Amino acid sequence: MGVNKEELFDKVVNLSKRRGFVFQSAEIYGGFRSTYDYGPVGVLLLRNVKEQWWRSMVQFRQDVVGLDAAILSPPSIWEASGHLTNFTDPLVDCRECGSRFRQDKLEDPNSCPACGSKSSFTEARQFNLMFKTNAGPVIDSAAEVYLRPETAQGMFTNFTNVLNTSRKKPPFGIAQIGKSFRNEITPGNFVFRTREFEQMEMEYFVPPADSDKWFEYWCKERMDWYLNLGMKEDSLRLRIHDSDELSHYSRATSDIEFSFPWGWDELEGIANRTDYDLNQHAQASGNKLEYNDSGTGERYVPHVIEPAAGATRTAMAFLMDAYEEEEVNGEVRNVLKLDHRLSPYKVAVLPLSKKDELIEPSKEVLNLVQPHWMCDYDQTQAIGRRYRRQDEIGTPYCVTIDFETLEDKAVTVRERDSMHQDRVSINELVEYLSSRLVP
Ligand code: GAP
Repeated sequence: MGVNKEELFDKVVNLSKRRGFVFQSAEIYGGFRSTYDYGPVGVLLLRNVKEQWWRSMVQFRQDVVGLDAAILSPPSIWEASGHLTNFTDPLVDCRECGSRFRQDKLEDPNSCPACGSKSSFTEARQFNLMFKTNAGPVIDSAAEVYLRPETAQGMFTNFTNVLNTSRKKPPFGIAQIGKSFRNEITPGNFVFRTREFEQMEMEYFVPPADSDKWFEYWCKERMDWYLNLGMKEDSLRLRIHDSDELSHYSRATSDIEFSFPWGWDELEGIANRTDYDLNQHAQASGNKLEYNDSGTGERYVPHVIEPAAGATRTAMAFLMDAYEEEEVNGEVRNVLKLDHRLSPYKVAVLPLSKKDELIEPSKEVLNLVQPHWMCDYDQTQAIGRRYRRQDEIGTPYCVTIDFETLEDKAVTVRERDSMHQDRVSINELVEYLSSRLVP
């Protein structure tokens, strides 16, 4: 049963709340617009997305190292990076109804989407998207600091520290996952565009002459990451930016886009940032930011290829891509066909009944599997309803302990997508699951 694209958005938002993926932040106070909290299964999904990114970008590579830089940062960083001047969106107000919009996102720049008035917009003003706050007790301009709007700059300002301590040489990368903050004019579409979000970014420093080659390499590598984690091929596309779309630092950018219910939109940007950032920070700080090969005497400022993805946005895309409805015995089964590496729980342990004699062996089975995988344990309601509940949060394997278990020391393992069931000896359960739940 295909899910209608128009309905998919509401269904996933509804599921997120109902099953504990995502909650509106400060809900008991009426909700704080555009901020969200990740619930018990949402936090696991998000961690898994980040973990898979880290595995592929850092763990499996000897040419990339990690970093966790500070969120609070002095204005000097953002002055040098160009964000104080250039990180702006054009803001217009409707004179009739007072609504505010990003001018570049309006379908018709002469018509207000809120009240329908024509030619009612003010002149566009450039609005800086960075959040400013004060460090310390004195509130004056000397105490002004910013919440980072991207994780990238910490990787440029630490270039020499990382180079000296990691013994890497170009081509090499610095990767970081963390929160970023943007005072978006028009946040929306659930967690797609929020004011507080998580990014997964990597700055790959290369010899200048090789930058085009590495740009192509990372476009392909990053596209393959989504596909390898089970995202459908026709849900993804690579879109090359026109020259008038390029950010102030970029020579070339391609976006990996996902087919959201409202149309194609960005999941990740891959940019050739040239030597812009290292040069800017070198000039502003008075510190050389270059690579010096002691063997050959070669000295140059590396160029940078940057794959920059959103963790929260990507988690939402995986949810939307995996959501399916199927008819089973005349009933609709909602199932999240997530790749098991992304599934919040890998295994659910389910005693067939609440009777005492099944609880103890069930807890033993739980103790056996939970050191290996994130497990859920649920002993209430009919087994069919518990299976459906696990299907809806994407749990790939349900392990049921029944009265026969007491005799044959075996359990029933049900696979989520095929609903196929195997009888597996408890002694062989970890091995059975290990061969199917590859990290
Ligand atoms: N360092 C480059 C950079 O930050 P970006 O395209 O502005 O580039 C990278 O951001 C990714 O971060 C985006 O592709 C998107 O996935 C995510 N992102 C950006 N703004 C966001 C927001 N307001 N809410 C959620 N995710 C956002």
